[in-house]
Amino acid sequence: MTLGPIAILGGTGQQGSGLARRLAAAGVHVVVGSRDPVRARAAVDAWDPTVQVDVADNPSAAASADTVVLAVPFATVDALLAEIAPRLKAGAVVIDLIVPLSFAGGKMATIDVAEGSAAEHIRAKLPPTVTLACAFKTVPAHLLDRVDAPLDCDEFICGDSDAARARAIDVAAALAGLRPVDVGPLSRARGIEQMTVLAVAINRRHKIHDARFRVVGL
Ligand SMILES: NC(=O)c1ccc[n+]([C@@H]2O[C@H](COP(=O)([O-])OP(=O)(O)OC[C@H]3O[C@@H](n4cnc5c(N)ncnc54)[C@H](OP(=O)(O)O)[C@@H]3O)[C@@H](O)[C@H]2O)c1
Repeated sequence: MTLGPIAILGGTGQQGSGLARRLAAAGVHVVVGSRDPVRARAAVDAWDPTVQVDVADNPSAAASADTVVLAVPFATVDALLAEIAPRLKAGAVVIDLIVPLSFAGGKMATIDVAEGSAAEHIRAKLPPTVTLACAFKTVPAHLLDRVDAPLDCDEFICGDSDAARARAIDVAAALAGLRPVDVGPLSRARGIEQMTVLAVAINRRHKIHDARFRVVGL
């Protein structure tokens, strides 16, 4: 399966940069979206110089791709969606990796989301011409960003349609060592986002950084 250009909005951040670097290294055309493309270009230039990664402002990046990954903090996603919604291609698949957490003062707190999950909140704000899947919510940034380190885990995929899940599965499968596990409809994001809370808690309690999940018996 050949993946077309993938825009990663917030691709300069902790989670987005690891994903961008790993996908680019796998031969995928990656466009990093940013509020400040000049600053983002400088950040991307510090990555592997043998791998080409394009940079654009968030709306232009969103308009350029058939797959658009949202990799920004939950508190900022509404403003981003308002900016990009008119620019998304009809038929595009949006992939959400956002977990509604805050870390003010180093203390983790979950953000209550009226719709039940960040994914369902985002779905309500996207145009009906695009579909939405979730992926990369539980794989830790600390590991994702060490591009030579094996991921060696599963990632849960849910979505609002078979087509969206299939695209997210293809994107996840492009990362060596990551097994996508289809868990069904978008509402499963509620459980996935709670699993990330659990992974962060495990990291903190056991003084590690890379807690993640593997489904046994599958
Ligand atoms: N860190 C993890 O281990 C992990 C694991 C699973 C899921 N996630 C999820 O991944 C998402 C990104 O997390 P992160 O740790 O990578 O976040 P981050 O580094 O704080 O931010 C990611 C990017 O979002 C953009 N951004 C930051 N503040 C913004 C604002 N006020 N308005 C608009 N854009 C803003 C920035 O890009 P520009 O400055 O270039 O615009 C930034 O580089 C979160 O929703 C998080 O829940 C993280």
